Amino acid sequence: MSEPIYLDFAATTPVDDRVLQAMLPFFSDNFGNPSSVHRWGQRAERALEQARRDVAEVLNCEPAELIFTSGGSEADNLALRGTALAVREATGANQLVTTPIEHDAVLSTMRQLRDHFGFSLALLPKRWSTSSDPRLQLRPVRWFLKTWNCSPLDCRILA
Ligand SMILES: Cc1ncc(COP(=O)(O)O)c(C=O)c1O
Repeated sequence: MSEPIYLDFAATTPVDDRVLQAMLPFFSDNFGNPSSVHRWGQRAERALEQARRDVAEVLNCEPAELIFTSGGSEADNLALRGTALAVREATGANQLVTTPIEHDAVLSTMRQLRDHFGFSLALLPKRWSTSSDPRLQLRPVRWFLKTWNCSPLDCRILA
């Protein structure tokens, strides 16, 4: 019988050997917490900051613009809550738009922002989320302008 082929790289992948080799010391000898003030922690912090500079160079951004997270759900939470709360504070915008086909980490965060932080939340119809027809791409914009009864100038889309 032939071997099955793994086709779920959107969920997780094997770690590249170069990454594995670079990381191995931090699972054994250099195990310090980079927030700790002792020498193990300081060594880990230096390595973390070097990694931040390396990634920033590849992405052509400032190291301070990079936030490392433990995974996708944490990144979704941080990006959505951080953006929604900061933009509302700066501009008063209070409306969130997303699609029903998002990952649960996105949908749950959006619902929490609605239920506990007072945002209004619109879910676009599923067929618009999945269509590749460019003619449908303006529909979501028209839809929420109509739903919230506002002009394009009134509307600031958060997510
Ligand atoms: C958009 C999105 N958010 C969150 C996750 C979950 O990531 P994690 O298991 O690292 O929390 C995935 C995984 O596929 C994802 O695609």
